[in-house]
Amino acid sequence: MSAKESAPESIQQDPSAVSVALQPTLRADQARIDAWLEALFATPSVAERLDAAMRHGVLGGGKRLRPVLVYAAGRALGASDEALDPPAAAVELVHAYSLVHDDLPAMDNDDLRRGQPTVHRAFDEAVAILAGDALQTLAFEVLAHQAHPRLAAQVATLAEASGRSGMAAGQALDLAAVGQPADLESLARMHRHKTGALIRAAVRLGGLTAVEADDPRLVALDTYAAAVGLAFQIQDDILDVTSDTVTLGKTSGADAARDKPTYPALLGLDGARAMADDLLDEALAALAPLGDEAATLAALARHMIERDH
Ligand code: IPE
Ligand code: IPE
Ligand code: MG
Ligand code: MG
Ligand code: MG
Repeated sequence: MSAKESAPESIQQDPSAVSVALQPTLRADQARIDAWLEALFATPSVAERLDAAMRHGVLGGGKRLRPVLVYAAGRALGASDEALDPPAAAVELVHAYSLVHDDLPAMDNDDLRRGQPTVHRAFDEAVAILAGDALQTLAFEVLAHQAHPRLAAQVATLAEASGRSGMAAGQALDLAAVGQPADLESLARMHRHKTGALIRAAVRLGGLTAVEADDPRLVALDTYAAAVGLAFQIQDDILDVTSDTVTLGKTSGADAARDKPTYPALLGLDGARAMADDLLDEALAALAPLGDEAATLAALARHMIERDH
């Protein structure tokens, strides 16, 4: 039996119908997390310019897919929306920090992000560095202010996914790989760290909000998230080649211009698409034990590799 045949019936729908059915959830969750993030800045900081740079980095744009994954994973296992708000906000804050730093001249040197000038362009490099730092610490502040029984596990999940075993490690591998010959193994290692780690953390944070850390459903969710996390970066690399700057809200063609190792560069566009499709099958198969409760997660997996920006 193929992965698709073993998946719950609601997962086997026509892809475009799945995408349409997902839209109200996406919009509602995006609005929910936007309001939550906005409220974090209700009290002014002593450093107005830093505060403005942080707001620029995190508010007013972005697909909010990591918070959406926190909500979907948490709801699938029975968590309330209120309990999921802090982890959803925390993972988006770490993601926003990673983008502010990713765009810096010392890293990808990008001028455009989410259709706006990047933070170091709108402000300056020093403020962008500080804004990234402070967005990261704000993420942990948001988590730590809750009284959740698995708070320590949540903090550990996000910290590990962000640092030397996760996103920061992946970013270091990315920078070290520029201009070097790439192979599939090193590319997967880089992508799984720089992007996959935070996506896995989003799904685990949602799950951990609902159930104990040794619940076997977290293992199924993690298999799903690992596949989706890699597929997400493959699609990011594909869009860098196939899409345009206005649709993306960031400069298209930037990877080739900087000689970044990517899946399309190594496998060609068709090879990269085939790999993303295989990972989608893997993600859907992993959800099978969760039944129809996982329908939104399944639709999200498809959306994340079929998205156009
Ligand atoms: C972009 O992430 C950077 C990657 C890790 C590929 P997103 O595509 O989720 O960016 P936003 O948050 O929607 O701007
Ligand atoms: C970004 O990868 C990964 C992180 C920010 C951690 P990219 O450098 O490909 O992301 P974009 O294309 O600039 O959004
Ligand atoms: Mg980068
Ligand atoms: Mg970049
Ligand atoms: Mg990219």
